[in-house]
Amino acid sequence: MLAIIEVKMKPHEKNLSLQKKYNVTGLLYDILDYPWEQRYKKWRPTLVGDLKGKVLEAGVGTGRNLEFYHEDVDMVGIELSKQMLRKAEKRIKKARCKVKLIYEDATVMQSIGSNQFDWIFSTFMCCVMPDDIQTLAIEQFGRVLKKGGRFRLLEIVFSKNKKLRKRQELYAPFVEKIYGARFDRDTLRHIERSSTLKVTNTSFLKDDTYLLIEGIRI
Ligand SMILES: C[S@@+](CC[C@H](N)C(=O)[O-])C[C@H]1O[C@@H](n2cnc3c(N)ncnc32)[C@H](O)[C@@H]1O
Repeated sequence: MLAIIEVKMKPHEKNLSLQKKYNVTGLLYDILDYPWEQRYKKWRPTLVGDLKGKVLEAGVGTGRNLEFYHEDVDMVGIELSKQMLRKAEKRIKKARCKVKLIYEDATVMQSIGSNQFDWIFSTFMCCVMPDDIQTLAIEQFGRVLKKGGRFRLLEIVFSKNKKLRKRQELYAPFVEKIYGARFDRDTLRHIERSSTLKVTNTSFLKDDTYLLIEGIRI
């Protein structure tokens, strides 16, 4: 099992404030996220368990998915915040597969070669990523995936149900302040406009708020 590989990484300038946020939030991330993690931990084994081959996890965070990868997977996790990455490093021992963690910005990926991954996987990264640079990350996904490679992204979005949306609107300012996450990101639309990625399936894991986007590198 491997530790963090520190790349002399220069994040996109529009990611600097998010990076700063996570370097602070990262100190208490697992405590702050505890109530939500009770739900997510039921989903993670299924979301990750069937991934095969060489997998890139973008926005690996504190490494909550690591323990669920199949032992044959060759996994690379990238992360914008060193603070989050340090926590993920501690979870490497729970993983059954080969793990490499890299300090890297998903919108840049200067340390990641092209056409090498069978899967791109991410949970709750695009909903924290500023909308105007999401296409950069999507371009990078298309570049580093092999042709025919697959992607699976879990994001949180506003509900169309008025009552539920009202409830989300109550805690949205807290979520944005602490996590930089917004429920109105346009990730699905950005991917649908991509020339290299094709969405093959969308579904919701709960209500119409936890959106799973799956697809293929064409
Ligand atoms: C809401 S947390 C989710 C963490 C983890 N995926 C999970 O499910 O618990 C979002 C993570 O994405 C990371 N992130 C955001 N933008 C990123 C980027 N451009 N490149 C790499 N990581 C990024 C943040 O630093 C943070 O750790």
